Amino acid sequence: MLTINDLFFSYGTIRTLRGISMDMAEGQMTCVMGRNGVGKTTLIRNIMGILQPDSGGIRIGDRNVTRLAPHQRARHGLALVPQGRQIFPRLTVEENLRVGLQARTDGVRDVPSEIYELFPVLKEMGRRMGGDLSGGQQQQLAIGRALAGDPRVLLLDEPTEGIQPNIIQQIGHVLSQLVTERKMTVVLVEQYVDFVREFGQKFYIVDRGQVVADGTTEQLTSDLVQKHLSV
Ligand SMILES: Nc1ncnc2c1ncn2[C@@H]1O[C@H](COP(=O)(O)OP(=O)(O)O)[C@@H](O)[C@H]1O
Ligand SMILES: [Mg+2]
Repeated sequence: MLTINDLFFSYGTIRTLRGISMDMAEGQMTCVMGRNGVGKTTLIRNIMGILQPDSGGIRIGDRNVTRLAPHQRARHGLALVPQGRQIFPRLTVEENLRVGLQARTDGVRDVPSEIYELFPVLKEMGRRMGGDLSGGQQQQLAIGRALAGDPRVLLLDEPTEGIQPNIIQQIGHVLSQLVTERKMTVVLVEQYVDFVREFGQKFYIVDRGQVVADGTTEQLTSDLVQKHLSV
């Protein structure tokens, strides 16, 4: 569903992505792992179109989206839950969710009830300011906002970072549900190995801008974790 082919990206003269190729299948959660600073967020921003690669390609299904702007990619079914959540603190929860509706191509103007079924707390908190929510609630809001665009491919950049364990579990179960019931393609940047093993199907480990290991999450051995992920 999402294919990344030999992607190179530099910040000025500093080469950050060095020939990344990945394949993310429909109905699976693919996890992108790696230590801090190896280029995970840079990769996600290239996939979303916030950054433009020096070379290489990105496809969604049969469609080459490499030269499209982020809002055009959104209309091809791509949505991003950015690192640090980046919800709008001065908008209400409902207004935050409405922002996500803009990516839709079907003209739906109301927040789908499904989002409140997945995250009931967003219904309870509908009139509160985004900035008044806890970190975990804000993360659920960021995911809800992305889902409001009715994506086929959902990108999440370290959604468990700084979130309490019970909400991490809830988020994991929601993502699993999207993968199994809606056959969504989920791409999860994640450093939390237990979460990857519990909820993910495939993994890629990135080191200094290159893929150094990949496989099914059963193949994510403690040797690999030790070598590429432990600090
Ligand atoms: N806007 C930027 N300008 C220059 N260098 C950057 C910028 N953003 C990130 N970097 C550098 O690029 C490298 C990869 O960063 P990033 O993609 O954020 O890594 P990760 O998400 O894996 O922690 C790091 O060395 C980081 O310092
Ligand atoms: Mg990052």
